[in-house]
Amino acid sequence: KNIVILISGRGSNMQAIVNAHIPSARIAAVLSNSSSAAGLAWAAERGIATDSLDHKAFGSRAAFDAAMMEKIDAYRPDLVVLAGFMRILTPEFCTHYAGRLINIHPSILPAFTGLHTHERALEAGCRVAGCTIHFVTAELDCGPIIAQGVVPILDGDSADDVAARVLSVEHRLFPQAVADFVAGRLKISGNRVINTERDT
Ligand code: GRF
Repeated sequence: KNIVILISGRGSNMQAIVNAHIPSARIAAVLSNSSSAAGLAWAAERGIATDSLDHKAFGSRAAFDAAMMEKIDAYRPDLVVLAGFMRILTPEFCTHYAGRLINIHPSILPAFTGLHTHERALEAGCRVAGCTIHFVTAELDCGPIIAQGVVPILDGDSADDVAARVLSVEHRLFPQAVADFVAGRLKISGNRVINTERDT
């Protein structure tokens, strides 16, 4: 299966997916909206195709998404993975990749959609934080949930402390979710994802 990974920054989740050497998965390309995304250089060093499109060069979100779709589709992806891709996607983009587009979000959805999730969890006095891997639908940070991980929030934690604790869970869950998709173990049923290995 061909996988295209989209990143905006350091790409540690992308690295975790690459390093997992998932059977039957080929990382066809790593693409970004920023040519300076550190993860691009890491992927290129490993012989993975990389490319970027600067969203600021486009007049509209729709124009950027259309150009991105063209780049992505050149790799004939079975799965498109948003791994810290910090752009809101148009409904057209989400529809085009329906059922083969997954995202990681650093909160236990549906709590804390959007940005600054760990700061907001701390402000709210939450005792746990976490991450969610989900299929992407047109509504931001919604869509059928594939996996969630939870970590404690400890007294005196900063947002960075929480982020680091959550990130280590992200690095474990995201490659597993990609492996489950590639192996055909994920079935979408309404707003639920059934993992045929885990839920039967
Ligand atoms: C992750 O915490 C992800 O959940 C969030 O941005 C971070 C990306 O980190 N959306 P990285 O680029 O994978 O290192």
